[in-house]
Amino acid sequence: MDDSRETFVKHAFVTGCPVRHSRSPLIHGYWLKTFGIPGSYVAHEVTPEEFPGFMTALKEGTAGFCGGNVTIPHKEAAYRLADRPDERAAELGAANTLWLQEGSICATNTDGLGFVANLDQRAVGWDRTASAVVLGAGGASRAVIQAVRDRGIKTIHVVNRTEARARELADRFGPAVHAQPMAALSEVMTGAGLFVNTTSLGMDGEPAPEIDFSPMAADAVVTDIVYVPLKTPLLRQAEARGFRIVDGLGMLLHQAAPGFEKWFGRRPAVDEKLRQIIIDDM
Ligand code: ATR
Repeated sequence: MDDSRETFVKHAFVTGCPVRHSRSPLIHGYWLKTFGIPGSYVAHEVTPEEFPGFMTALKEGTAGFCGGNVTIPHKEAAYRLADRPDERAAELGAANTLWLQEGSICATNTDGLGFVANLDQRAVGWDRTASAVVLGAGGASRAVIQAVRDRGIKTIHVVNRTEARARELADRFGPAVHAQPMAALSEVMTGAGLFVNTTSLGMDGEPAPEIDFSPMAADAVVTDIVYVPLKTPLLRQAEARGFRIVDGLGMLLHQAAPGFEKWFGRRPAVDEKLRQIIIDDM
């Protein structure tokens, strides 16, 4: 390949520690192939100690990347070390997508965008509800709460085993968000149109607790951000009660799309073929 052409080939990364289980290279590899773009997307493991040096190399261009994704445990450091984080990343205090612009590292967080895009695709009309229930108050929960709030859902109940963590999120995300103890679960589910599980409940070898979904609105959507297995114990329970369910795989696929567009200049589609590629890899 001649040099002039080489300069147009872009390379992106996903970094984490560990990162070998990441499915992002499969996703971006599929899109690169679909568009016939002569770029690459690779998993690049970096320890927390190495991460600041990696950001410097990214900025100076010596890493050879035009941008990339950041996953556990680097999302907070990526936000702190980026030159130009956007408002979404700033409110979350975490970034998952980086790109270079005029010598600066720009940063955003696309997890919440992925969450709502998945619901838009698989549960049309989900946002007509006035109230939602989010179980869990960790990092994933924050992105979900921000995105659901930004879509205009008026009341978001955050229910968490450790109520103090839920209160912290209610303080952070403003008056639409209400912290609730586990004991209030049934009460706040009454009439709600969206239930989101962001915890690992029932995934750690322990039996999943029974959650009574029946007080929810008849057309309510129940979704889980965990996607292995695709149908989590909570989704099975909700499905058995006749509720619409949405698995978490689409969130992973959709959160990847804005980064691809930043780096490679094309807006990719989240289609069934891509979904099947990831399912086959599970
Ligand atoms: P992540 O960043 O992936 O969201 P996290 O920060 O470890 O992960 O948060 C995990 C969430 O699952 C928390 O809300 C946690 O509740 P606590 O804040 O009380 O720890 C919740 N969680 C995990 N295991 C749980 C269990 N067995 N019962 C209830 N909640 C659980």
